[in-house]
Amino acid sequence: MTMRISVFGTGYLGATHAAGMAELGHEVIGVDIDPAKIERLQRGEVPFFEPGLPELLRKHVESGRLRFTTDAAEAAEFADVHFIGVGTPQKKGSYAADMTFVDAVIDTLAPLLTRPAVILGKSTVPVGTAARLAARVRELAPVGDQAQLGWNPEFLREGFAVEDTLRPDRLVIGVESGREGRVEAVAREVYADAIARDTPFLVTDLPTAELVKVSANAFLATKISFINAIAEVCEATGADVMQLADAIGHDARIGRKFLGAGLGFGGGCLPKDIRAFMARAGELGVDRALTFLREVDDVNLRRREHVVSLVKRELGGSPVGRRVAVLGVAFKPESDDIRDSPALDVVGQLHLAGADVRAFDPEAMANAATVWPTITFADSAAEALADAEVVVVATEWKEFRGLDPHAVGDAVAGKIVIDARNCLPTEAWIDAGWRYIGMGRYAS
Ligand SMILES: NC(=O)c1ccc[n+]([C@@H]2O[C@H](COP(=O)([O-])OP(=O)(O)OC[C@H]3O[C@@H](n4cnc5c(N)ncnc54)[C@H](O)[C@@H]3O)[C@@H](O)[C@H]2O)c1
Repeated sequence: MTMRISVFGTGYLGATHAAGMAELGHEVIGVDIDPAKIERLQRGEVPFFEPGLPELLRKHVESGRLRFTTDAAEAAEFADVHFIGVGTPQKKGSYAADMTFVDAVIDTLAPLLTRPAVILGKSTVPVGTAARLAARVRELAPVGDQAQLGWNPEFLREGFAVEDTLRPDRLVIGVESGREGRVEAVAREVYADAIARDTPFLVTDLPTAELVKVSANAFLATKISFINAIAEVCEATGADVMQLADAIGHDARIGRKFLGAGLGFGGGCLPKDIRAFMARAGELGVDRALTFLREVDDVNLRRREHVVSLVKRELGGSPVGRRVAVLGVAFKPESDDIRDSPALDVVGQLHLAGADVRAFDPEAMANAATVWPTITFADSAAEALADAEVVVVATEWKEFRGLDPHAVGDAVAGKIVIDARNCLPTEAWIDAGWRYIGMGRYAS
């Protein structure tokens, strides 16, 4: 059945969710407080890079099934189901999540609800938030307890966001214990397509749904930092972390995914989510349960320092005035997201240390230039590489993995490559005469 849906927040999550819901046959209105973003979306333009999303967005803006507004009242009037996909960034000066944006949506939307409605939160929030918001909705909504709130955490991955939205690997719906109401039934209608394909559909209470999301991210972060910690030991012993990861990954209990040693995790989710999880555990008096996440964070941040120190070492100490090419500034390939990007952090640290850094990224240059206006961003990989004394591959874009080491060798001033993502064909680079330095593995 076609539902009338609103999506509050049209960033990476919300814009994708809105277009995805339209693709599933629903009528959708996206709401944001950023008029420039709304204007672009309404023209069928995606204000960020996400493969497959521009086509989907255009298709449904043109079909009339998807439109955008800055007017919450228009959304309240139109839709019966309201998703919340606004940001929950790290609070300034604290590990906790900044809930200002989520709270603002509830305070704006709830007083406009004059007929029965279901609100489904998708933003990643500290456990306990949903119960607090459900009570606030009842208090503020003219329809009272006919306005119900559930939590439906989002697991999409940037770079695969469209696929993950249309074909999620599981759906989690948190409902208020003792006040289950219509939330589950509405969620079943919204996601009827995925449910018909036997996608696991898990109904939980509110705190469990909130904790599923942050636990999943804490686990993924831990897995990455685990292999990066082992990489440090490999570096001290001459062992090869990639062979090691292959070998332990064959154990089905461990699995090979997320065991890529390298520059560590970043982006708008994992770093702030593990910190917010620790902060919340502290408030709940169970901080010791998550103390290990501090170490996970620390191991992760050490990878950036490690790469910077490798560059300095290869330059014989001081990088001042020395030309360094950094390939990649996005936190991962297939994304232009530079939030807490390890790659951009390396670029920034080298710049601050006085190096003449030339960085290039296929999609994230404009975003990076707003954060670091003083850094020289090149227009192409070739421009970044010209006359470089050291090359750092910091984001594993396909374009970089496929570089011809012979051609690059002719362009640079020094054939030293630091493969900070262990993504290059090592033998080919060594055969082409390069000094190759991987992460947690040998240097040629
Ligand atoms: N990006 C991801 O891959 C991803 C994946 C899973 C979960 N999440 C979670 O989803 C949430 C959103 O993340 P994002 O990456 O899309 O953030 P984002 O910063 O890209 O987008 C947030 C949007 O919300 C808008 N906004 C702020 N206040 C608003 C209000 N009162 N009304 C309407 N719009 C408002 C902002 O203008 C912005 O466009 C976060 O909680 C994040 O942790 C993100």
